[in-house]
Amino acid sequence: MSAVEARPPFLPWNRPSIGPEEEQEVLDTLRSGWLTAGPKAARFEQAVRDDLGVEEAFAVSSCTAALHLALLAVGIGSGDEVITPSFTFCAAPNTVRQVGATPVFADIHPATLDLDPAKTAEAITGRTRAIMVMHYGGQPCDLAAFRKLADDHGLLLIEDAAHALYARRDGIRAGSVGDLAVFSFYANKVITTGEGGMLAGRGDLVQRARLLGRHGIDSSVWQRHGTRSTAAYEVTVPGLKYTMPDITASVGFRQWEKLPAFTEARARIAAVYDRELAGLPGLRLPVVEAGVEYGRFLYPVLVEPIGDRSRDSVAEEMREAHGIGTSVHFQPVHRLAAYRHLECHLPVTEHAAARQLSLPCYPAMTGDEVQRVIGALQAVWS
Ligand SMILES: Cc1ncc(COP(=O)(O)O)c(C=O)c1O
Repeated sequence: MSAVEARPPFLPWNRPSIGPEEEQEVLDTLRSGWLTAGPKAARFEQAVRDDLGVEEAFAVSSCTAALHLALLAVGIGSGDEVITPSFTFCAAPNTVRQVGATPVFADIHPATLDLDPAKTAEAITGRTRAIMVMHYGGQPCDLAAFRKLADDHGLLLIEDAAHALYARRDGIRAGSVGDLAVFSFYANKVITTGEGGMLAGRGDLVQRARLLGRHGIDSSVWQRHGTRSTAAYEVTVPGLKYTMPDITASVGFRQWEKLPAFTEARARIAAVYDRELAGLPGLRLPVVEAGVEYGRFLYPVLVEPIGDRSRDSVAEEMREAHGIGTSVHFQPVHRLAAYRHLECHLPVTEHAAARQLSLPCYPAMTGDEVQRVIGALQAVWS
C-alpha cells in the first residue's frame, strides 16, 4: 500500500438511478420523429392518474410550473392569502407571490416537520383562499385533518408532494387528497427526468391548468397533428408554456414504474442508519408516525449544537475529512431576503432549520457506501 492512502471518490448527497429502460425509451422517442408533448407525455399522465386514482394529470416542465398553474387555475391572485410552511423550498411561496397573492407561513410539527394543522387553523383569515401543505421529506402530513380544515372553511387544499411520490398515511396516497397536487422530477428527487413535474387532481382544475399551460390554446399540437390545419386553433386565455416534452416523459414513465423498488431500496438504507446511528448524543433520527408509509425522499437528522459540534461543523467535517456530501432542507423561507419583511413567529421552524441535515440515502448507494457514511458520522462524534 502507498504511504498516502488513496481517498475514495467523493460520495454525493444524491445520485440518480437511470437504467437501460429509460435509455431505450428515450432512443425510441428520438427516432420516432415526435419530440415534444405527445404520446409519451400522455402515457406518463395516465400512469400517474391511474396510480393516484385522481381525475386528471398534466405533465409539465417542473414542479414550480405545476405550482404556478395550480394557483392560476383556481384563480388565486391579488388580495388572497395562501397558508404554507416556511420550512419548505422557496418554489411554493414564490409562485404565490408571482400570482400577486400573499404567503402566510404557519409553523410545523416538531416530530414530523410537516405543517401543523392546529397552527394552520390559527393562521386562517377572511382572505385565506388555500392551504398549501408540503409532505416533508416524503412523510405525508395529516391529510384527513387538512382536508377537514379546508372543507370546514371553504378553502382549497393544494398538496406540494414534490417529496412524496410514493407515500401513504393510513392507506391514503399522498397527492390524492388535495383539490390539486404537484410532484417534482428534478434531478435529485425520488425519481427524475432531469427537470419535470406533474399536476394532478380534480378534472375541472387540471383541464383549466392544461389550457393555461399550453399558451391558452384549445387543443394540443399532438391532437391537431395530421388531422387539422396547424393554424386551426383558438387562444381562449393568455396562457404560458409549461408542457413536458416526450423526450423527458420517456424517462418519466419508466422511472415512475420503479417507484416501489426505489422506495424499498431507500427504506432498507434508512433501516441501517436507524440501527447504526441510534444513540449518538445529540443526533435526532427521523421520526416516522404510525400509519405512515414514508416516501423517503430524505433521511433528515437534527444535530443538537453541543460544544463545538453543530449541524454546519458536521456537514463540513463530513465533506472535508471524509469526502461525503450532505444537504440542508431547508433554509426557512421567511429568513430569505425576499421574505424578511413578513412578520412571522415560527419557533419550531427556526429550531429545526438550525439543526437539520440530510444524509445520503438513495438506491444507487452500495452497501459499502452506506457503511462509509455511518463510519464517518461515528468518527465525527468520537
Ligand atoms: C418541496 C418542494 N416543492 C417544490 C419544488 C420545486 O421543484 P422543481 O425543481 O421541480 O420546480 C421543490 C424542489 O426542490 C421542493 O423541494
